[in-house]
Amino acid sequence: MVGWPDRRWLDLVGTEQPIVQAPMAGAGGVELCIAAIEGGALGSLPCGMLSPEQVRAQVAEVRAGTDRPFNLNFFCHRMPDGVGDAAWRELLRPYYEEFGVQPSNGGAMRLPFDAAMAEVVEEVRPAVVSFHFGLPEPSLLDRVKATGAIVIGNATTVEEALWLDERGVHAVIAQGFEAGGHSGRFLGSDPAEALGLFALVPQAADAVRIPVIAAGGIGDARGIAAAFTLGASGVEIGTAYLHCPEAGISDAHRRKLREGRTVFTNLLSGGLARGVHGRLIDDLGPIRPEAPRYPLASAALAPIRAAAEKRCEFGFGPMWAGQAAPLGQALPAAELTRQLGADALAILGRAG
Ligand SMILES: Cc1cc2nc3c(=O)[nH]c(=O)nc-3n(C[C@H](O)[C@H](O)[C@H](O)COP(=O)(O)O)c2cc1C
Repeated sequence: MVGWPDRRWLDLVGTEQPIVQAPMAGAGGVELCIAAIEGGALGSLPCGMLSPEQVRAQVAEVRAGTDRPFNLNFFCHRMPDGVGDAAWRELLRPYYEEFGVQPSNGGAMRLPFDAAMAEVVEEVRPAVVSFHFGLPEPSLLDRVKATGAIVIGNATTVEEALWLDERGVHAVIAQGFEAGGHSGRFLGSDPAEALGLFALVPQAADAVRIPVIAAGGIGDARGIAAAFTLGASGVEIGTAYLHCPEAGISDAHRRKLREGRTVFTNLLSGGLARGVHGRLIDDLGPIRPEAPRYPLASAALAPIRAAAEKRCEFGFGPMWAGQAAPLGQALPAAELTRQLGADALAILGRAG
């Protein structure tokens, strides 16, 4: 037999390859999205740190580069009320002094999907909308569904996958703990119980009726073939695309991908996210109770990060990466996408 063994995701989304180029706020934008689409993937635009105007402008740029489907990605966290960050600022005091900056609230904050963004979705009508950290409130979700968009949610446990399925998403991302960036956990599971992809995908695929898209630690075609064998009908790949010239990351981040030492940390945003080591993590340890809840920790860090980056020090901002980082190849994203698809089909014994 020739072709993908499970076509449920492909038939729903209509792309050539069952690959979703993961949305990566701060690391991949319009250029990466268009290039991945050119290779046959579903390209994604991360919108979690953009204003509605910026989303409109980036969508126009993507549409100028391709007429194929793309995904707009949003965050759905609840903003914490009344959380102080005095202990966090005190912990950071030596860095304020070292870099000669004042503790101020600055930097682009990650904001949850709201009515203004729902209006943008209604206006630009993307083919796909994906949500991280759960789903927006029902009235906003209904507005997105009414546009006809395919809606995807992110699950880190079987319970989260079922929760999303019950709310009518069209596909679910099963995100293993190998994944780079923020763990999208949203139903309060204990982080110490976080599931790896090999355990999560088959359990999620058994539990839900909708297509499962595997994410986390898929660094090459072997990972794609394994995900299909485990019951996925699509894969979402982030870190492997960071090696591409279209990714907008620092040279320091790019170099560290090759070292492959990643860790879950709460220092850079307050939420649990996987990235490579940098100076802040090495100095303070990856998890600190002083860091205020997601997404507040990044505000007090912003002036330190800005001053450090002026000196070409990148260890005070996120350098997210998944556990398979060293497997990646520095190819243009379109070529990488085509090669991943062709090699995975060959491994599965279904090449044409
Ligand atoms: C640099 C980086 C930034 C990310 N930003 C986002 C984001 O904005 N929205 C989101 O839903 N997921 C984000 N993620 C997580 C990805 O969607 C996905 O779960 C992950 O990349 C899959 O694991 P992998 O990196 O091992 O391929 C990010 C991941 C990375 C590496």
